Amino acid sequence: MILEPEKFRSFEHAGWEGIPTGYHEAFGSLTTQAIEPLLDAVRLKKGMSFLDIASGPGYVASAAAKRGATVLGVDFSAAMVAQAKELHGDVEFREGDAEKLPLGNALFDAAVMNFGILHLGQPELALLEAHRVMRAGGRFALSVWCKSEETIGFAIVLRAVELYGEPRVELPEGPPFFRYSDAEECTRGMLVAGFESPSVTKVAQTWRLPAGDGLFNAMKNSTVRTAGLLRAQKPTVLKKIRDEMRAAVGKFTKGDIVELPMPAWIASGVKP
Ligand SMILES: C[S@@+](CC[C@H](N)C(=O)[O-])C[C@H]1O[C@@H](n2cnc3c(N)ncnc32)[C@H](O)[C@@H]1O
Repeated sequence: MILEPEKFRSFEHAGWEGIPTGYHEAFGSLTTQAIEPLLDAVRLKKGMSFLDIASGPGYVASAAAKRGATVLGVDFSAAMVAQAKELHGDVEFREGDAEKLPLGNALFDAAVMNFGILHLGQPELALLEAHRVMRAGGRFALSVWCKSEETIGFAIVLRAVELYGEPRVELPEGPPFFRYSDAEECTRGMLVAGFESPSVTKVAQTWRLPAGDGLFNAMKNSTVRTAGLLRAQKPTVLKKIRDEMRAAVGKFTKGDIVELPMPAWIASGVKP
């Protein structure tokens, strides 16, 4: 596997530019479940300066502002930044790359990246950048999905593609999607970037989606890499994948709603 960080970055960037609304509608109620554990992990308090990296629709930034922090959100997608500004008019958001933050050294008391690391071509650079912009004694935390055996939304789509489709389609090669979905790899990443006292804990989360095709639609229309995998399938195959996914969500369905376990790891560390 030869990684293509620049091509991968362009692919991710183009993807995120097109889906701010879809992402907000499909994932907003899910990724927000990690916010309080993240803000607790960095011990965010009133008066602290706080950075939300890969801020997307700005959920973490907004919650941090409500805790009384001085907040900046940074995301490389102009469309995501525009959406964050629209949703949270009282919070500052700026365009910027997590792997090369447009910020000086030692500016923040705390920083968080909520489900951003798995979208980066060079995640090690982003961890170093988070470290660089933080003050000594500051805490950084990130969230990442647990492996697909536990995150049932991913298990269902990947299994359906394996059963009926072509799982090895040509997409720009990025790091493995589930690379950091492992407590040891999170710990290692934190230590290599220079953070001390790493801690990794699991949080339970539940993804509530419309019954039937809610999961298929969310994966196809509101993600980047998984959407790329689905869209690369032939139409007849895609229909089989959709039918399989619809059947598989059956046992998680309650009335009009599907409830899928989607736990996450929260990893944190201190800048010495
Ligand atoms: C899964 S979303 C997470 C959004 C948000 N943090 C949340 O709590 O839901 C991933 C976000 O990372 C952003 N992103 C991906 N690669 C990036 C990069 N290299 N630099 C900055 N942002 C990036 C995308 O634009 C997208 O908004």
